[in-house]
Amino acid sequence: MTTPSPLPDPRVRPAAIATPGTGGLVDRHGRVATDLRVSLTDRCNLRCSYCMPPEGLDWLPKVEVLTDDEVVRLVRIGVEHLGIREVRFTGGEPLLRPGLPGIVAAVTALSPRPEVGLTTNAIGLSRMAPALAAAGLDRINVSLDTLDRARFRQITHRDRLADVLAGMAAAKAAGLTPVKVNAVLLRGINEHDAVPLLEYCLEHGYELRFIEQMPLDAHHAWTRGEMVTAEDILAQLTAAHTLVPDDADRGAAPAERWVVDGGPTTVGVIASVTRSFCGACDRTRLTADGQIRNCLFAREESDLRTALRSGATDAEIADRWRIATLSKLPGHGIDDPSFLQPSRPMSAIGG
Ligand code: 5AD
Ligand code: SF4
Repeated sequence: MTTPSPLPDPRVRPAAIATPGTGGLVDRHGRVATDLRVSLTDRCNLRCSYCMPPEGLDWLPKVEVLTDDEVVRLVRIGVEHLGIREVRFTGGEPLLRPGLPGIVAAVTALSPRPEVGLTTNAIGLSRMAPALAAAGLDRINVSLDTLDRARFRQITHRDRLADVLAGMAAAKAAGLTPVKVNAVLLRGINEHDAVPLLEYCLEHGYELRFIEQMPLDAHHAWTRGEMVTAEDILAQLTAAHTLVPDDADRGAAPAERWVVDGGPTTVGVIASVTRSFCGACDRTRLTADGQIRNCLFAREESDLRTALRSGATDAEIADRWRIATLSKLPGHGIDDPSFLQPSRPMSAIGG
């Protein structure tokens, strides 16, 4: 597969090409990965149409899923040997992992202490939020695509909107603030929900970010023409509210942000497809079964689980991770005619 190089991005960090054996996670294009996304399970209690088929998927066999101790060891290697400074737990649905508060506590105890975040659908969060806050969780992102009960059920195939809203309120009450909300708009389904979502978030002090739908659905039904673009979303929002670009340094953050109605609340749009930010990407991903992926769209993975379970030292595992990073492609190539969707859907990769 050929992947076109995106235009040079002024936010790319200076090249510091490392040789295996030393330093951080540097790729051949000079990007340094400092943000680790860890998928804790491929299972989920929702079936968002852009992510999973209604009948679910063939879940990973339990023996292939990393144990809590294995997850913590790999994260520790990332933090102590490889310069990881931010860790985000994802899924599937990470709240389905019983050991989550313990994993968060172990990771926030590492030195240097990484920032620790969670991306969740918030089902069960009303019960779990205090334990997660006590474990040191720094940030939380909740996925919510509509405030309409029928459309929520249509998108997720489950009637759980009330649980999600209760979970968000519990996160705020537990001090996990600002609660961020991720929304994906789908043509012909919730494409007109942008303004109601923004107004709900303004009212409750949540920070809303829209994400352009990416080709990660299990049915491979995504088409560029059907996608609700960042431009469409901004047109809806500016018809109802005053948006002023937020000048705060964006760094490697994928969201472009606007201050709403004079502030202080902002709204973000992550234009993963129409304005890709691959040139500034600082992410590395660990799947629930212990594979390193350089990108959501990578077609290759590097196995750390086998090394981990066959007695490799921390230094050896760190080296494998560095080598895996070297081959990170310059961009996701969604616009390339030869683009192929990754064989695993989003739920198995981690958002
Ligand atoms: N495109 C864009 N965002 C997606 N998410 C899941 N699948 C997709 C997709 N195909 C979002 C979820 C969640 C985060 C992990 O990624 O809504 O907020
Ligand atoms: Fe579950 Fe998140 Fe996928 Fe929805 S997008 S089915 S909440 S993993």
